[in-house]
Amino acid sequence: MSKDQPLLVLDDIKMRFGAIEALRGVSFSVDGGEVVALLGDNGAGKSTLVKIIAGGQRATSGRVVFEGRDRQFDSPAEAKAAGIETVYQDLSLCTNVDVVANFFMGRELTRRVLGIPILRQKEMEQETAKALAAGGTSIPSLRVNVEHLSGGQRQAIELNRFVHWGGKLVLLDEPFAALGVEQTRRGLEMVERVRARGIGVILITHVMAQAFAAADRIVILRHGIVAGNVKTEETSPDEVVRMITGGIGRIARATENQPETGAGT
Ligand SMILES: Nc1ncnc2c1ncn2[C@@H]1O[C@H](COP(=O)(O)OP(=O)(O)O)[C@@H](O)[C@H]1O
Ligand SMILES: [Mg+2]
Repeated sequence: MSKDQPLLVLDDIKMRFGAIEALRGVSFSVDGGEVVALLGDNGAGKSTLVKIIAGGQRATSGRVVFEGRDRQFDSPAEAKAAGIETVYQDLSLCTNVDVVANFFMGRELTRRVLGIPILRQKEMEQETAKALAAGGTSIPSLRVNVEHLSGGQRQAIELNRFVHWGGKLVLLDEPFAALGVEQTRRGLEMVERVRARGIGVILITHVMAQAFAAADRIVILRHGIVAGNVKTEETSPDEVVRMITGGIGRIARATENQPETGAGT
C-alpha cells in the first residue's frame, strides 16, 4: 500500500431494501489521519453506509476498497480483524465485568499452572492503565464493572481499546448523542488523539458545531447521494445546511475531490 493512497475508498455504493434505494451511488474516500464528518438528514443513508463499511451488511453494488484492496466484509468480526470498527456508546462493552476484562475481551493474557490457564491479571491491568493513559483517559478504578461508568467513560474505553489493538478506521455513528457538554468535549479530544495516530475516522453527527470542531472534511448525504464533499476550512455551517436540505450543492467540487480508486496499483 502506497503512502498517498487513501485508507478507504467507497466507489459507487448502492444499497436497495426492496423498493427503497437507501444509497444511490455513493463515492468518497477517507485517508489515514483524516476525520470525515458524515452529515445528512434522517433517512439520508448514513447508518446504512457505515454498516456496509463495517461488515454489518453487504452493498447491493459498488466497491469498498480498504488499504488498496477490494474488501466487502461479511461480518463485523471480519471487519474488526482488518482494523475497521464501529464504536458505539456502550453496546459492545460487557457491563457486568470490569474495565480490564473488557479491554482484553477475547485477547486475555494467560499463563499455565499445572496445565491450567490462569489469567495474568496484574499485567493486563497495567497494560490497560498504560493504554488509557496514552489516550488521555482517566478512569478512577479499572476494577469497577463497566455498568457503573458513564457513557463518556465507556466510549473512551472503547476508543482506547480500538487504538491499542491496532485499529485503522473507526466509525462513530452519533457518538455524542447521549453525552453532556463536558463529556462531549472529551469525546472530541479523543477523536483528535485518534486522528493524530494516523487512524481514519468517519464521524456521523447531527450537531454542526461538532463536525466543524472535529472534521477535516465534511461529506453530505442527501437521499442516498453525495450532495457535497468539502474541506471544513473551505465551507461554512450555512452552506452545509443548504447541502443537507437541498439548496445549492457543490457536487461539481465533490467530484473534483474524488481520488482515483486505483485498487491494486
Ligand atoms: N434494514 C432496512 N430495511 C429497509 N429499509 C431500511 C433498512 N435500513 C435502512 N432502511 C432505509 O434506508 C434509508 C436510509 O436509512 P439510514 O441509513 O438509517 O439513514 P440515516 O442513518 O442517514 O438516518 C431510510 O429510508 C431507511 O428507512
Ligand atoms: Mg442513522
